[in-house]
Formats: sequence, C-alpha cells, structure tokens
Amino acid sequence: MTAGPAAPDGSAVPDRSAAATDPIVAPEVAGTLLEAPQIDVGLDLGRHSIDDPTSIWVVVNKHRPLDPERYEPEDLVAIGGGQQLRREAAAAFAGLEQAAADAGAGFSTSTAYRSHGFQAGLHAQYAARWGVERADTFSARAGHSEHQTGLAVDVYESSACRLQACFGDETAGMWLAAHAHEHGFIIRYRDGDHAITGFRYEPWHLRYVGVDLATHMNDEGVTTLEEVFGLEPAPDYL
Ligand code: DAL
Ligand code: ZN
Repeated sequence: MTAGPAAPDGSAVPDRSAAATDPIVAPEVAGTLLEAPQIDVGLDLGRHSIDDPTSIWVVVNKHRPLDPERYEPEDLVAIGGGQQLRREAAAAFAGLEQAAADAGAGFSTSTAYRSHGFQAGLHAQYAARWGVERADTFSARAGHSEHQTGLAVDVYESSACRLQACFGDETAGMWLAAHAHEHGFIIRYRDGDHAITGFRYEPWHLRYVGVDLATHMNDEGVTTLEEVFGLEPAPDYL
C-alpha cells in the first residue's frame, strides 16, 4: 500500500486510491464500526417567551420594562412570612428551602412578590435617602423589577448580612450559589455582572427560571439572562 499525505500528527495516511486492494466490507457492517455522532442539541432557548410577563423566562431589566408595566400575576400563592410567589415558583421554592435546611444551610425569606405600587414606594424611599443615581444601582424602578413578576425572592441568613453582600459568604449564600439551579433558581445579580444586569451584587436575590434553564446556565457558566438570550447589556435606563 502506498503512503498518502501526512496527517496532522505527522503519521502517514493510507492512500484511499488503493481501496481496490482493501478487504471488501459491506456498508452495513462498516457502519456498525462507527460511533454514532454525538449531537448536543442543547436547550431550546425559544421554548418560552422572554417578553411575555407570564413566562417563566421573562427578562426584565433597565431596558426591558414589564409589558404591561403594571402587570399583576394571577396565580400568586403564599410561601410563608406573609410573602407570595407564583404557583410554580412557590413549589420550587419549597423544595429549595427543604434541601437547604437538610444541608444545614437554611435561610429565611425577606420579600418575594412586590406590586408595582410597592416597588414604586420602595424605590422612592431609597432615592430620598441615597439619591436616585445611587438607588438605581440596587433598587429597580417600578415596572422594571423582577419582584413584580412573582418569580423572584430575597432570602437571608443572619440579620447582619440581610440584603448585604456578606450573605454570599454565609453558609446559605454559598450553598445557594452552588445548588439553587437544581431547584430552578438562579442568583440573578452576580458579583461582577453590574455592567450587564444594571444592578450590583445581590447574592440573596433568587429568580425562578425552571430547572432546565438554570441548569443550562450553571453548566455553561453563563451567569446572566441577558447573555444566555443574547440580549444587550442594560447598565442604565434608556
Ligand atoms: N433589588 C432588585 C434589583 C429590585 O429592586 O428588583
Ligand atoms: Zn430581590
């Protein structure tokens, strides 16, 4: 058999023009020698709307207000502590709470669903105290908050680190960063993502997107909804 051109690793490649001298192998037998191609179809990112406020994948940020801006979820249920989430998110949150408690990483709930009016009052309070520019780095304006979707919830461990970056270093904060996706939640505002999400680090703010998307983002190392859906960064209001 004559040697063909060098393969990338430098070894000689058999010249296929000499195939007539090769043993005859029936195609169906030859086919069994080949590995079936492994095609990773990945997650269908069009499965749910990112615009519909009722979608578990709705993306809300400084460029993407809820539409309608005063949207109110129709399936809110109690999650304890006087708080509410949409039914699907509430069921997942119960599982998350239990798993965290079982792992010795229990946490308490701060606020979950917030109406347009509640969010407007909250942002106004922060703006009065800190100025609008600073308030906008950590508090969404009404119509732009994930809390209004009924799919977001803030949690805490110690009072000292409630709504503070140090929650990320507490047992619950570290556990959530590693396991929240297993229950369909993401840490929406990760450290270092401010220029994309528009908000500073909030290790306590959990957003329900379902196990498939949360796991996909975790596996791919994609931390923001803007990036996973190919949306523009939203550092400031338009
Ligand atoms: N703290 C988050 C950004 C909110 O106000 O919705
Ligand atoms: Zn929050």
